[in-house]
Amino acid sequence: MIPQRLAKALNEQIKNELESAYLYLSAAAYFHSLSLDGMAHWMRCQAHEETIHAMKFMDHLTDRNSPVTLLDMIQHKTRWISPLELWQDAYAHEQFITSKINELVTIARDEKDYQSEPLLAWFISEQIEEEATAAKISGEIDMVGDSKSALLMLDRELGGRAFPPGSPFDPLAYAQA
Ligand code: FEO
Repeated sequence: MIPQRLAKALNEQIKNELESAYLYLSAAAYFHSLSLDGMAHWMRCQAHEETIHAMKFMDHLTDRNSPVTLLDMIQHKTRWISPLELWQDAYAHEQFITSKINELVTIARDEKDYQSEPLLAWFISEQIEEEATAAKISGEIDMVGDSKSALLMLDRELGGRAFPPGSPFDPLAYAQA
């Protein structure tokens, strides 16, 4: 079993990851409302990825014979004043998630739970990538400024992100269901 203090924090992280998915789905809805369908698509892909993150923590608890408790989620935000504000929020949110992963590492080390280290090491690497991506796109949106044509070009580029096959967030996966 996982030490109780770490198990509690891992359960909270399941919630944090699912809240991330929920936040990115709100972002997708916002971008759809602006006809920025490429950015909406990118956010739906991200919601898929966040759900997988939650499953990784859930499976780890289950594999270690520790109870999974799904906690109440909150919706952090549903409205933004601009695409720039949204992307900056996404970057800030990923920084928050990184801080939660760092806390998990600290607790795992305090509790000498070495079996959690491979999973947490994966998340440390993942958060470097997640922060870098959000920071890069935020910077690009900032550079776009008031140029609608540049915004549309960036929207097209972000629309090229691929869903994993069969993702329930991909309209093609349920079009014929
Ligand atoms: Fe699962 Fe974007 O952190």
